[in-house]
Amino acid sequence: MAIIIKNQEQIEGIRKSSQLAGHTLNFIAPYVKPGVNTEYLDNLIEQFMRDHGAIPATLNYNGYPKSSCISPNNVICHGIPSKEMVLKEGDIVNIDVTTILNGYYGDTSRMFQIGEISKEANDLLEATKHCLNLGIQQVRPGNYFGNIGYVISRYAQAKGYSVVYEFCGHGVGIQFHEDPQVDHIARKNTGAIMKPGMIFTIEPMINMGKARVSVDKHDGWTARTVDNKLSAQYEHTVLVTAEGVEVLTDVDGMFSMTPINNAAL
Ligand code: MF3
Ligand code: CO
Ligand code: CO
Repeated sequence: MAIIIKNQEQIEGIRKSSQLAGHTLNFIAPYVKPGVNTEYLDNLIEQFMRDHGAIPATLNYNGYPKSSCISPNNVICHGIPSKEMVLKEGDIVNIDVTTILNGYYGDTSRMFQIGEISKEANDLLEATKHCLNLGIQQVRPGNYFGNIGYVISRYAQAKGYSVVYEFCGHGVGIQFHEDPQVDHIARKNTGAIMKPGMIFTIEPMINMGKARVSVDKHDGWTARTVDNKLSAQYEHTVLVTAEGVEVLTDVDGMFSMTPINNAAL
């Protein structure tokens, strides 16, 4: 399957869906507190999306049962919201939401802290956020997809962290998961070449300990670190523009100043 180059109409539709996904994370933020169970958060997320004319993309996707993925502490990704999973002081948690609005997909996730967290947890969050930003700075026409994973893995490993390689970013927009696969650990100047109109996610998962993933045998989804150490993830949906990058899921204006990137490797 080739990498889809989106036309103007598709870009506008994916931009709207991506913005709604970003707003969904802002909406849920004040509810992410000690004592709350993750099924409650999932229900609020589903209602918010539906109130805005969207459908949660994860619901019934390959049998996935919920409207978001909520992944605390040692859960790398695909945590299934449940009544039993109650957030507590000191936890870190990723909330990952994907909207389908008028048929178009937008995919984003970020970390939340529950009350006060440890310095080591805070350092992991900051480093992971920086990994996503470094990856975004590599997005421009003519650059190699591999350079996204190159800068992410170089930075994370220099900090003593490991990079999850069993889950990747992906093309997105017309379908949930399109080509290409966007690796977060890669060699310099490898892979496909970015072209204007490509839309994909960058979603590094960074671990305190070992990189390996262990998927829960019982639910078939929950992906945990093999050593039960902490894992963090941030995700944005990005568009390759003629000049550089537009971060479609950014609703906080964090990336409005980065239309052109010439970040050196
Ligand atoms: N939102 C996730 C991603 O970033 C995918 C979740 S698929 C699910 O690609 F089925 F687990 F929900
Ligand atoms: Co994604
Ligand atoms: Co996602």
